[in-house]
Amino acid sequence: MNNQIIGDCILAPMAGITGYPFRKIALKYGASFCFTEMVSAIGYVKNDKTTLELTYSGSYTANTGIQIFGSDPYIMGLAAKKAVQSGFKAIDINFGCPAKKVIKTGAGSAALKDLDNFKAIIAEVKNNIGNDNLLTIKLRSGFDESSKNYLESCKIAENEGVDSIFFHPRTRAQMFSGKADHSLTALLKKNISVPVYATGDIFDIYLANDIKESTAADGIMFARGAIGKPWIFQDFINFSKLHFQLNKLTDADNLNSIENLNYEDRLHKLDNLDKLIELFEEMLAFYEEKRAANLIKPHLYNFLTGFDNAKIFRLEVNNARNYCDIMNVFNNIKNI
Ligand SMILES: Cc1cc2nc3c(=O)[nH]c(=O)nc-3n(C[C@H](O)[C@H](O)[C@H](O)COP(=O)(O)O)c2cc1C
Repeated sequence: MNNQIIGDCILAPMAGITGYPFRKIALKYGASFCFTEMVSAIGYVKNDKTTLELTYSGSYTANTGIQIFGSDPYIMGLAAKKAVQSGFKAIDINFGCPAKKVIKTGAGSAALKDLDNFKAIIAEVKNNIGNDNLLTIKLRSGFDESSKNYLESCKIAENEGVDSIFFHPRTRAQMFSGKADHSLTALLKKNISVPVYATGDIFDIYLANDIKESTAADGIMFARGAIGKPWIFQDFINFSKLHFQLNKLTDADNLNSIENLNYEDRLHKLDNLDKLIELFEEMLAFYEEKRAANLIKPHLYNFLTGFDNAKIFRLEVNNARNYCDIMNVFNNIKNI
């Protein structure tokens, strides 16, 4: 399957964050592709109501992949088959989730401890979606420090016909602590011919650019960096073009240094506040009011990073319960 359909600037799957409204806005503001949060293969096969809400993609199934988790190859195959029959063009298998309730079933990052089953899951999913749909996997560097087997597991995945790999260079044991070690991403890229996408601690467009260049990754997958900043995709695309142009200038121009650009500073955050209001409106159209008010909160929290009075605003965000409360916060930020 042609990898071009997913492009090189992707919204990561994030439980509790990447519901339909956020995916829609990320796609509108530059994401080349996006993924649903991880859903249980069994829940999906059984038409579980919550699972179907999490995977709802409206008319965006062509730019949306579904991410499934599970440890039974047969059920994973059934879920993948159902997903392509429902219009999804890309199926991602979650081999990275560190949560206890997932790994105790042998799914998520626990699959890295049983590479025979890892291989069987991929083979069964591939068998069920054929060659006309994209098969991707998302994995960590290993289960723990003493079992970093990402090179071996990715080789297996490559041999089983996986089309792309989303790589988070932390072990399961690390959860989200420490730093993502992108020297491993570079090593993976050197050792494998399947396209590799970097994810992990990519919080702004400068880091994205550095990591893309230093690892030779085929693309960037933004996760926490997109929360409260869904325009990061368009910024990154614009910045990459600008950076490419500047690199063609002579050293004498002294414009090679990314630090000199201050690109993101110039695009003042407040200019983009309306995009977050738009996200909130999408949430209100999709969820009931209280849920929408809660789901916009992580975005407002992140957005407020760097503001002098962030503490006061965050308190207002905490206390917000409904549409009016949230709109008051937006208006107060606007009136700074
Ligand atoms: C709130 C949250 C939920 C996440 N849920 C998922 C998930 O459902 N599936 C998955 O593969 N990764 C999930 N992740 C991991 C991200 O996709 C990403 O790989 C990870 O956060 C590293 O990128 P970052 O450091 O740039 O955030 C989640 C991360 C966060 C913060």
